[in-house]
Amino acid sequence: MKAIDRARLAALSAREGRDFVRGHPRSAALFARAKKSLFGGVPMNWMAKWPGGFPLFVTEAKGARFRDADGKDYVDLCLGDTGAMTGHAPAAAVKAATARLRRGVTAMLPTEDALFVGAELKRRIGLPAWQFALTATDANRFSIRLARLVTGRRKVLVFNYCYHGTVDEAFVTLKDGKARARRGNIGPGIDPALTTKVVEFNDIPALEEALAPRDVACVLAEPAMTNVGIVHPRPGFHKALRELTRRTGTLLIMDETHTICAGPGGCTKAWGLSPDFFVLGKPIGSGIPAAAYGFSAEVAARAAERIKVEDCDVGGIGGTLAANALSMAAMRATLSEVLTPAAFKKMIPTAVRFTDGVSAAIAEAGVPWHVSRLGCRAEYLFHRSVPKNGGEAAAAADFELERFMHLYALNRGVLLTPFHNMALMSPATTAADVDRHTRVFRAALAELTARRP
Ligand SMILES: Cc1ncc(COP(=O)(O)O)c(C=O)c1O
Repeated sequence: MKAIDRARLAALSAREGRDFVRGHPRSAALFARAKKSLFGGVPMNWMAKWPGGFPLFVTEAKGARFRDADGKDYVDLCLGDTGAMTGHAPAAAVKAATARLRRGVTAMLPTEDALFVGAELKRRIGLPAWQFALTATDANRFSIRLARLVTGRRKVLVFNYCYHGTVDEAFVTLKDGKARARRGNIGPGIDPALTTKVVEFNDIPALEEALAPRDVACVLAEPAMTNVGIVHPRPGFHKALRELTRRTGTLLIMDETHTICAGPGGCTKAWGLSPDFFVLGKPIGSGIPAAAYGFSAEVAARAAERIKVEDCDVGGIGGTLAANALSMAAMRATLSEVLTPAAFKKMIPTAVRFTDGVSAAIAEAGVPWHVSRLGCRAEYLFHRSVPKNGGEAAAAADFELERFMHLYALNRGVLLTPFHNMALMSPATTAADVDRHTRVFRAALAELTARRP
């Protein structure tokens, strides 16, 4: 196995950086102007982290492609980090959203679309009670609040290196077996070790020990981790997770915001899981802000007993624009016409093609990396084998190498999901799009591992 030559990596990164700046004068000029009115020159803090020194400014996006301000076209394998897993601007969602916009979108009152969405989610997931939010972060937060309400417990348990949006309770990592505040969480109110227990994914004995005192309101989990590379559950893990949560009166929240890539009902349906809560954001409205969280009849009954009508507008769960008519129309169209079983039949084989191509290129280059897949999501990791937990996956991160791979792809017309090496397939993504990435990936590896002359 070949180790990456760091001097070569630095030289190649510098060359790609120069090419990026030279190739995108209009985005560079917009970034310079943006600095005059936007913090850091970006409308959203983390956009400053894109490799190349400034983000590309987008003019339009359709299907699996987008165009930047310099008129260059890209294959989009990032797809808004799952927000556009539907493909950009799918016709059915555009039609429904446009029609709704013309008829008004926010009246603090329900529209009939909510009934369709609730019934469809109930049919797909099996949970009977649904509520809505504008982001998956909020849907997670609100699920946690309800779990605390009905259990009367305060603590939350998460898995090491999870990501569930900007949910304060989730920014905890394990260090020397202890919960520690995760680096990078801006301005937390209190030490998250006070609110949260953290164990490694797939570690059943640690989970059992953490739940034993019966002070945890809920486990917040992705069925497979997707934000630190893909970490699959080991056989028997989900069975143990469900048994231990039930035995200790702990509620189980499955955040399927990303793992909906596994199929129309996410991993919950594909693997026969039975969580107490199910959370879905990002693609559910084809990119229009929308999220849903559903819960069991038991949680619904216990919550109803504790929420007085007089107080139900006060706090904990809420949002004036949540469940607005535009989000509802977009969700209805997405569930009925975009993220259909037929769409997944197309998307998943495209992802298989991606992993086949990347895996062959890794083998040819002889680097100690691997690629894995969950449904229509694929990710390569700078690690020889599939990690069994978040700690192992995080240890394989290589910031400099990752930035180089992303910039190399971007300079050749392919956008990967930033901050890790993820590629997502939409119904519009083609075999040719995937093959283009494979060629670029192979070329990057060839340059990285080439013998010195
Ligand atoms: C699993 C998971 N849940 C929740 C979120 C939060 O989504 P949003 O930022 O749209 O609130 C993310 C974002 O990446 C996520 O990956």
